[in-house]
Amino acid sequence: MSNSVNESRETAESNQRSTTPVTQTTAGESQEKTQAEWTEYEFRGEPKLSVEGLDVYYGDEQALQGITMDIPENSVTALIGPSGCGKSTFLRCLNRMNDRIKSARVDGTVELDGADIYQDGINLVELRKRVGMVFQSPNPFPKSIRDNVSYGPRKHGEVETGLLARLLGDDSTDRERELVERCLEQAALWEEVNDRLDDNALGLSGGQQQRLCIARCLAVDPDVILMDEPASALDPIATAKIEDLIEELAEEYTVVVVTHNMQQAARISDQTAVFLTGGELVEFDDTDKIFENPESQRVEDYVTGKFG
Ligand SMILES: Nc1ncnc2c1ncn2[C@@H]1O[C@H](COP(=O)(O)OP(=O)(O)OP(=O)(O)O)[C@@H](O)[C@H]1O
Ligand SMILES: [Mg+2]
Repeated sequence: MSNSVNESRETAESNQRSTTPVTQTTAGESQEKTQAEWTEYEFRGEPKLSVEGLDVYYGDEQALQGITMDIPENSVTALIGPSGCGKSTFLRCLNRMNDRIKSARVDGTVELDGADIYQDGINLVELRKRVGMVFQSPNPFPKSIRDNVSYGPRKHGEVETGLLARLLGDDSTDRERELVERCLEQAALWEEVNDRLDDNALGLSGGQQQRLCIARCLAVDPDVILMDEPASALDPIATAKIEDLIEELAEEYTVVVVTHNMQQAARISDQTAVFLTGGELVEFDDTDKIFENPESQRVEDYVTGKFG
């Protein structure tokens, strides 16, 4: 397995052998003892997502370097690391949201259930249905709570209501009602909104809006849910609700979550990937291992707050 960690170690070691001792890696962080198997995170079962040799460039700037990692299904994978190290970039590669950024170029492979999502002819609408995304700031549509949840299924032609649907005998009002209730239940929001489903979603609190966005994501029946700092704009109580929800979702879905909050990563995730400056994946392992006994000195410094 090749990765930039090994490359920077080799560069640093050969520098050390040849001339004066080197105490900095190419990324500018302190020298460390590394192990080749860091990124070979082992787990039982098949990976849900399998990323190999992923490089991302924005124009001439490289944002991710040779990322290789397998993400297990039905679990929470946290992505942590300092600002600008490429966490959001990585997340966006998992459902090809980077396709929307003109200057972005992606090399390498990303497989979902063993099938390359970057192969020609892939249906992006279908891909993003299977790999949904929840953003940092809640972004509900300026529509009713009900319509926010049923929007995706409607777009995919799975829910038809209204006069025409009634005339054609396609009316799925009952199905819509069940869907809306189930998704809001799953997003732990039903109790709070069941008496005002026709109110505008923008009238909800920030924490409620974020859970509504999660309900909207669940409505199209995804396999994977990507979340980019989903609780960073929320107060501690709303954050706790989102954290509980993420843990519950992982029983049925594969959740990949970016967070700046170390305690949050430690609390909610099963495994943690640490990215560091320059777009390297430095270590990926069980969350307990990352926080209690990481292999990398740089990771230890980062998780104990010594830099970043
Ligand atoms: N649309 C873009 N165009 C050009 N460069 C970009 C773009 N998006 C990100 N970058 C650059 O890519 C690098 C990684 O950015 P990214 O947003 O993935 O980092 P991040 O780890 O999510 O940071 P943060 O924690 O601040 O959200 C940064 O140097 C950033 O400036
Ligand atoms: Mg980001």
